[in-house]
Amino acid sequence: MSMIAAFYSSKSILITGATGFLGKVLMEKLFRTSPDLKIIYILVRPKAGQTLQQRVFQILNSKLFEKVKEICPDVHEKIRPISADLNQHDFGISKEDMEELLSSTNVIFHCAATVRFDDPLRWLDDAIIDEITPKLIGDRPNTYTYTKALGEIVVQQEGANMNVAIIRPSIVGATWQEPFPGWVDNLNGPSGMIIAAGKGFLRSIKATPLAIADLIPADTVINLTLAAGWYTAVHRPKSTLIYHCTSGNLNPCNWLKMGLHVLETFEKVPFEKAFRRPKANFTTTSFTNHYWNAVSHRAPAVIYDIYLRLTGRKPRVTKLMNRMLRMLSMLEYFVNHSWEWSTHNTEMLMSMLSPEDQRMFNFDVRQLNWLEYIENYVLGVKKYLLKEDMAGIPEARQHLKRLRNIHYLFNVALFLIIWRLLIARWQMARNIWFFIVTYCFKFLSYFRASSTLKF
Ligand SMILES: NC(=O)c1ccc[n+]([C@@H]2O[C@H](COP(=O)([O-])OP(=O)(O)OC[C@H]3O[C@@H](n4cnc5c(N)ncnc54)[C@H](OP(=O)(O)O)[C@@H]3O)[C@@H](O)[C@H]2O)c1
Repeated sequence: MSMIAAFYSSKSILITGATGFLGKVLMEKLFRTSPDLKIIYILVRPKAGQTLQQRVFQILNSKLFEKVKEICPDVHEKIRPISADLNQHDFGISKEDMEELLSSTNVIFHCAATVRFDDPLRWLDDAIIDEITPKLIGDRPNTYTYTKALGEIVVQQEGANMNVAIIRPSIVGATWQEPFPGWVDNLNGPSGMIIAAGKGFLRSIKATPLAIADLIPADTVINLTLAAGWYTAVHRPKSTLIYHCTSGNLNPCNWLKMGLHVLETFEKVPFEKAFRRPKANFTTTSFTNHYWNAVSHRAPAVIYDIYLRLTGRKPRVTKLMNRMLRMLSMLEYFVNHSWEWSTHNTEMLMSMLSPEDQRMFNFDVRQLNWLEYIENYVLGVKKYLLKEDMAGIPEARQHLKRLRNIHYLFNVALFLIIWRLLIARWQMARNIWFFIVTYCFKFLSYFRASSTLKF
């Protein structure tokens, strides 16, 4: 039997961030592999008019939990949502709930975080914060990485007497294998970029093509997390171990290769109702980046919005485009640098697992085939995020053909207009035009003469 699965069985587990991307994959795997676990407490904040129960209901009724409901039909009875907001004093947890948590919890997984890169720091008055933020974050690219580092310091200081482990994933993408390949449900990072590229919004990006695209599948992160939880509790290492859950060292793939795989997959599974045909290039200087942003992003958006306005509809593409450009600028730091992460602890952990656990909680990213993973990722984005039906693929292809024809027509029209203006105003253009016409005429006359000779 799996030692890890046995460890979590009959345990009371507390998860923060269980309504998030990784939290859901964590909860799913726990129920699937240790259906006998006692209870999972999840700290949830009421959101968008939904009660806690409604939020849990929504998670359990999602595609992600299909397998769990077969294995563990009473799963809904084993989840206890607790109202909490981690920004509040004592996390906004009631006294009774806090007592229950303190007396029953065996294992805690802390996954909650705000993953927006530019969230303001919240300790002081806004004006003061705005002023001191650049000094506080120093060389770090954003407040996200800064607060992550602070969080780790607090954990190491305050958790010195506890069995604690820290997992540091790189850029988390869709699932690789479990519960099925390509599952994803949030737009952050690579998933948002895949949508933007597949729908034809993202046509160029300032990135270093040969920099490492350190993507790591969500299920790999969760398998490592569960293995680290088991190891920390059972083997009790003397210090807090940090596990880097990354792919760059063990199975590197660069942005160029990844981008090409993504574009190739769009040929097979195009997204519906694309704005333009998927095509993307890398820019490496600020000048070319500004140029392509103006030509490939802003100009088509403005033209399309004018068209929408003229046809009595509400313009929306420029707004979408601006949002995308903001997202790209936030990701810029991460697609232009490569990092080398030590995988010493991760490899040590792998070596401590039984063969059964290595299979059941696989986090050996060396086995990952990028081409296959990217294909499943794009498919997952189409199915689970965009909710597009595979039956719509022929129509999506037709739509792309129409866009290609419009693109050609537009280019020809633009060329003719510019040429006409040049001829009207510039003697040199008229000379070139005269030269081309004369040359074509001579060529045609020669061609006609030589075919007459043959007869
Ligand atoms: N995704 C990545 O690429 C990546 C990479 C490296 C590290 N990580 C880390 O992995 C962890 C999980 O990330 P994720 O991708 O799953 O993020 P996510 O999908 O945005 O989920 C964040 C979770 O935190 C909860 N949360 C945020 N603020 C809260 C608050 N004040 N009180 C209570 N709950 C709160 C959210 O609750 P609501 O549902 O109510 O919003 C949600 O459940 C985070 O620590 C993140 O920094 C993620």
